[in-house]
Amino acid sequence: MHAAVIPAADVPPIYRDHPAPAEPHGDELVVEVLAAALHHLTRSKANGSHYSSNGVFPLVPGVDGVVRDKEGNLRYVVLDDTALGTFAERTLIDPRRSVILPDGIDPVQIAAAMNPAMSSWIALRRRVDFHAGQRVLILGATGNAGRMAVQIAKLFGAAKVIAAGRDATRLKALTALGADETITFDQIGHAADVDVVIDYVWGDVSADAMIPMLTARADRTAPLTWIQIGSVAGPTAPIPSAALRSARLQIVGSGIGSVPARDILAELPELASAVAAGTIDVRARAVPLAQVAQAWTAQTDDRIVFVP
Ligand SMILES: NC(=O)c1ccc[n+]([C@@H]2O[C@H](COP(=O)([O-])OP(=O)(O)OC[C@H]3O[C@@H](n4cnc5c(N)ncnc54)[C@H](OP(=O)(O)O)[C@@H]3O)[C@@H](O)[C@H]2O)c1
Repeated sequence: MHAAVIPAADVPPIYRDHPAPAEPHGDELVVEVLAAALHHLTRSKANGSHYSSNGVFPLVPGVDGVVRDKEGNLRYVVLDDTALGTFAERTLIDPRRSVILPDGIDPVQIAAAMNPAMSSWIALRRRVDFHAGQRVLILGATGNAGRMAVQIAKLFGAAKVIAAGRDATRLKALTALGADETITFDQIGHAADVDVVIDYVWGDVSADAMIPMLTARADRTAPLTWIQIGSVAGPTAPIPSAALRSARLQIVGSGIGSVPARDILAELPELASAVAAGTIDVRARAVPLAQVAQAWTAQTDDRIVFVP
């Protein structure tokens, strides 16, 4: 079969022949891949920078996707650590890590949306005690995950959603998706009185935002939950000690490992239905898997989805 293959660390993927999946063991299924997206997680697992990378090469990347099983069911699947990912014509799945999708879904839309959408959906539903009426600040709101976080926070009943980023023009577009206010990072004091921060940026950007934001809070003893989700501005953040003393701040993370897999899976059918219903706006671009080498480093706002 054809697949995208990364022969060694720091080498981009090549589209070539690759052995078909081995005979399935136990509950495993060999499935046909219909659509698989190129997420930050896909790249960072492949280059070894993600905490869940296992450094095994050759590697067929692809951490999730929409597949068709032998019975004809369409499934969204999240793979466990494996050297045979979803950037292939066929792969091997554990059906317990998949959900059957409703008829008539668009595989490309689902493949593009689930990973970025899951980040805020799971965080608000399963990682923190979020409830309708709370106010949410999203740091890094112009990315795929951030745009969806705006929509998901609103869907879950947030009383106010403030979208923060570095580009005022790109931020403005988020008003149409439900953002009540858009601010650049240097205006962070305007977002002082929120209950939850969904943070996709981290690095110096988040660390620098903390003191101006916390010291501007009307009631510093009111709980503020800061959810670390992404790290587009840097993997480490020099958090000032005063940030943890000057306000009732708690910092938590949400991602693979901090939420049980069964909790994540339990949320996926409802999330897939929301995407299928068009409740969440998705930026997706279908690309033939044969073009994986060029697409791997492409700069685009759309989520690239490989179609074998
Ligand atoms: N934990 C989880 O469950 C989970 C799930 C999905 C994604 N993530 C993580 O969330 C992050 C965002 O993912 P995504 O899919 O939304 O990525 P994306 O679509 O590539 O968007 C990233 C956004 O970050 C902004 N950005 C880039 N560099 C920046 C910098 N130095 N300072 C401030 N903003 C910067 C860019 O916005 P502008 O160019 O418009 O400023 C860009 O739109 C990634 O780190 C990803 O790994 C985590």
